[in-house]
Amino acid sequence: MSDATSAVPVCIAGTGSYLPEKVLTNADIEKIVDTTDEWIVTRTGIRERRIAAEGEFTSHMATHAAEKALAQAGIAAEDIQLIIVATITPDTLTPATACYVQQRLGAFGAVAFDISAACSGFLYSMKIAKRLISDGAFENALIIGAEKLSSFVNWEDRNTCVLFGDGAGAAVLKKAGPGDGEILATEMGTDGRQTHLLNIPGGGSACPITTENADQRLATLAMLGKEVFKHAVTRMKQSAEKVIERSNLTADDIALVVPHQANLRIIDAIADRLDIPAERVFTNLQKYGNTSAAAVAIALDEANRSGAIKKGEHVVLVVFGAGLTWAAAAIRW
Ligand code: ACO
Repeated sequence: MSDATSAVPVCIAGTGSYLPEKVLTNADIEKIVDTTDEWIVTRTGIRERRIAAEGEFTSHMATHAAEKALAQAGIAAEDIQLIIVATITPDTLTPATACYVQQRLGAFGAVAFDISAACSGFLYSMKIAKRLISDGAFENALIIGAEKLSSFVNWEDRNTCVLFGDGAGAAVLKKAGPGDGEILATEMGTDGRQTHLLNIPGGGSACPITTENADQRLATLAMLGKEVFKHAVTRMKQSAEKVIERSNLTADDIALVVPHQANLRIIDAIADRLDIPAERVFTNLQKYGNTSAAAVAIALDEANRSGAIKKGEHVVLVVFGAGLTWAAAAIRW
């Protein structure tokens, strides 16, 4: 599903991110499960991840990231009209985490809701918000990817617990004025035939947690990593190519690719297939692991604030996650 460049251009006015203080290194994980720093680094590139404090929820992290994005955009919380939180680790099943964020920000003029598209959620949110602004429904939007995956990881399963971390990233979107950048093209897709590859099987209506099954860790992430890996490379490559082409650009025009931060080998494979050298691909998974919907949002904020993206340059964001879902965006910064 794609969109052409819209009549009313939409830009990113500000970005922000938040990472909890607590660092969990590979050496720390060696003490929890049968693994080694060497295995984790060579198979994934991850060296450490952040873990939310007790009492620190997805909505807290989302709010911190949002405050930074709003400050950079120069827009007051009370002037935000739409808040979308992308998360698979909501504070509560209902109400939406976006409602808690609205409350914490005091953004009471905003419509607020969550979307669930796993690691692809931030770019799903970007496409939805861009279209709603472009169509005139809203003047601006706050989109947030936020996850407390540490609450949904089976800390006895070495196949998954080494991969994930907590954090949040945000962006403020608004109608672009003269001299602003523009979100040129967005693209997203879903393959529901692959729901079994990556899921949290328990805790929903299909399998409520009961006293009988509580010990089976059903409300934690389960993944067939090898299969997910193959789909991730194919789908992200195709998705990135689509937005580059629809923006009338070529790979040579892209100053920076900001991909989902799941595995360095996946990122290297995509860069190779897109014919984009490693120095034009942003990575930070070494520090944070896979923070699902937050990952690309945190990476975008770090790229923005570190000067890795300069005004007028073209950036491609591309993501992949449970569902299976994928999405991409091409942006003139
Ligand atoms: N430490 C040591 N050994 C391990 C560990 C570990 N932490 N985890 C698995 N192993 C073992 C396995 O048991 C297996 O042993 P065996 O051969 O004796 O059975 C061996 O290592 C190899 O396992 P593989 O699954 O073949 O390892 P692979 O090279 O595929 O790497 C990984 C696994 C890192 C999970 C990789 O497949 C991957 O990154 N997949 C994609 C994940 C992803 O992109 N997710 C994105 C979406 S996340 C979301 O939406 C929330």
